[in-house]
Amino acid sequence: MEKLWTGRFKQPLNEVADAFNASIGFDRRMWRQDIAGSIVHAQMLARQEIISREECEKIVASLGDILEEIECGKLEIDPKCEDIHMFVEGELTRRIGDVGKKLHTARSRNDQVALDLRLYLRDECTEIMQLLKETVAAFVGVAEQHVDTIMPGYTHLQRAQPISLAQHLLAYCAMLMRDADRISDAVRRMNVSPIGSCALAGTTYPTDRDFEARELGFREPCQNSIDGVSDRDFCLELMGAFAITMMHLSRFCEELILWSSWEFGFVELSDSFTTGSSIMPQKKNADMAELIRGKTGRVYGHLMALLTTLKGLPLAYNKDMQEDKEGIFDSIDTLKTSLRVFAPMVETMTVRKGKMLTAAREGFINATDLADYLTKKGMPFRNAYKITGQIVAFCIDSGTDLESLPLEDYRSFSPLFEADLYAEIALENCVNKRISKGGTGRESVLAQLERERHLLASIKL
Ligand code: ARG
Repeated sequence: MEKLWTGRFKQPLNEVADAFNASIGFDRRMWRQDIAGSIVHAQMLARQEIISREECEKIVASLGDILEEIECGKLEIDPKCEDIHMFVEGELTRRIGDVGKKLHTARSRNDQVALDLRLYLRDECTEIMQLLKETVAAFVGVAEQHVDTIMPGYTHLQRAQPISLAQHLLAYCAMLMRDADRISDAVRRMNVSPIGSCALAGTTYPTDRDFEARELGFREPCQNSIDGVSDRDFCLELMGAFAITMMHLSRFCEELILWSSWEFGFVELSDSFTTGSSIMPQKKNADMAELIRGKTGRVYGHLMALLTTLKGLPLAYNKDMQEDKEGIFDSIDTLKTSLRVFAPMVETMTVRKGKMLTAAREGFINATDLADYLTKKGMPFRNAYKITGQIVAFCIDSGTDLESLPLEDYRSFSPLFEADLYAEIALENCVNKRISKGGTGRESVLAQLERERHLLASIKL
């Protein structure tokens, strides 16, 4: 395949170097965006009388054909081309001759690739936002059924205080909503148009960058041509947001792996989202959850790789920047497939309420409430805390728990104890009294659910 840049070269590119240099293997996925950008560029050139109307019509019609033919599989993207930009331009010229060669007036592959990548990422982010929405909806759906399901809440993975399962799941809704917010914020910043920056310095042609930005759905043209071709902050911001999202999925996956073990037995994952062992017939493994947890590592890696690639680059474009694509494409693919598996895995899990409640009954997780009882009766909290600790130690020594300890025993620790203490430390009570804003109490959980439903409805894609 003859290069479009051959003029000053006497020898062809070495074969190994050619393959090494090419990006068509991965940038081919931006073909739609490349054609869309070229169509608008041709229109701008005609409006500004840089090319004629007729020439523009020919170019636009032929680009339309190329788009359709790739779409229906009639035209294959040639893997021997250097990159997708060269392929589209080469194909155009093959079809309409010299007119096609006019398309690259007042443009460079440097601003072209920056444009294509922004357009591509914008489209992908719309899909990711939709998937995030579905994932939050999955959590909300399960949470709605488990407002009154009591489980131990943990700190240091030690049973800490009783909570509603819905409260636990709503924490993930909050995280994923932040992820959605982070992504749309990054998209907003990304949404300025680099086209017209040309190689790095702008152009002598009377271009109209505002028209191009408007037609392609950007807020405005980027303000500096050098920044236009050398900025990849938007990739980093998005990869950062994707890495954080994966981390959130991974944390719940870790919990699912623990919760579905015999040791916990809090949930059973559906057969459709687990696998068996080749040797141990009893096994039911949480492979999907483990894979999401595992794949989080590579999404982090891509972020670190691009940060490192960019750190030493002088302005403006350098070929190193071609390395931006594989990592971010893989991050997107990984996040999307993870979300596609994650949401139904959550939706289809079976919650073992009894196991959760039994676990909540052990481990003295209502001790804080006992201390609060004394505090409400006038004892300073630190004293109440100490006495409660002594009562817990006494229960452990005598093999009983706070609910079963007789009132006389309580009174030997403090005369403030009365029969109403038992109601205070009943688990349901411990959970439902916590109606502080954002707390695990029923009222607060219902308010959070309402808010999530409202937020879900308000996310615009
Ligand atoms: N394939 C290149 C990339 O992904 C396109 C830009 C090439 N520009 C250049 N000056 N060689 O970065």
